Amino acid sequence: MTSASRTALITGASAGIGATFARHLAAQGYHLLLVARRADRLQDLARELAQRHGVRCEVFSADLMDPASPRAVVAHAAQLGMSIDFLVNNAGLSGHRKFIDTPWPELAGEIQLMMTTLTELTHLVAPGMVQRGWGRIINVSSLAALSPPGESLLYSAIKSYVMVMSQSMDMEFKPHGVHVTALCPGFTHSEFHDVMGTRKTANQLPPILWQQPQDVVQEAIKAVMSGKPVCVPGTFNKIMASLMRPLPLWLQYQLGKAFNPFK
Ligand SMILES: NC(=O)c1ccc[n+]([C@@H]2O[C@H](COP(=O)([O-])OP(=O)(O)OC[C@H]3O[C@@H](n4cnc5c(N)ncnc54)[C@H](OP(=O)(O)O)[C@@H]3O)[C@@H](O)[C@H]2O)c1
Repeated sequence: MTSASRTALITGASAGIGATFARHLAAQGYHLLLVARRADRLQDLARELAQRHGVRCEVFSADLMDPASPRAVVAHAAQLGMSIDFLVNNAGLSGHRKFIDTPWPELAGEIQLMMTTLTELTHLVAPGMVQRGWGRIINVSSLAALSPPGESLLYSAIKSYVMVMSQSMDMEFKPHGVHVTALCPGFTHSEFHDVMGTRKTANQLPPILWQQPQDVVQEAIKAVMSGKPVCVPGTFNKIMASLMRPLPLWLQYQLGKAFNPFK
């Protein structure tokens, strides 16, 4: 089977890194099932990609903070007769207020969206991939998983989970032809900081810290195809990760406390 007859499911495809995954995978001939809350954005993108690349492009509007959503997405794919060969668990956001000032439903939503939904979608689609002997899964983590923890944020902990979980699943699935890659981008141009409410501070960060989503996505697809379990895109991010990772935990704690640009 070639990518021309394979289907990719992408969450958070209405903007940023997810929409960029959709563009790259459609250009490679994958049929797409695009998921996010903003149906109008998904429909515009689906129309454009179907026209440009001649692929089948379906959309499903869902709030992935809803615990019922992973099963609803997969049921919709089955209804459309699409079996998922390539899964990109990308949808995400971060709160930036103090932990005790954030209402519990918001924190629970972050955990559901980036941990539970991501894990359940993997659990739902992996058996089919294993059965067919081919599959690719990219779980979008963050450089935050390899960096000192940020004060108040659940984000660092959540993205650490995504990275470690992806490595564990890669060990289990790889003998069956299914590769899992944790993608750990650094600062990437998208709507992330508008949603987080930190655009002003983000714009003051030096340009060397930033990557374009196209570069991140290209490197991620190359990594998952070649079976790399963790992908840190960009030279600067790779250097940062290799410098920060070996630091003793007490120093990581102090660095995390001292250098939080979003505090
Ligand atoms: N940009 C960065 O600097 C950066 C760095 C490291 C990691 N990341 C990670 O990259 C991933 C993509 O982020 P991005 O930078 O592309 O941000 P973005 O431009 O804000 O896109 C986020 C996507 O997630 C979707 N989403 C958010 N909440 C959702 C929900 N409840 N249900 C369904 N979809 C939801 C959004 O769609 P709707 O609003 O339409 O639902 C949107 O398509 C995230 O996991 C993020 O943590 C980003």
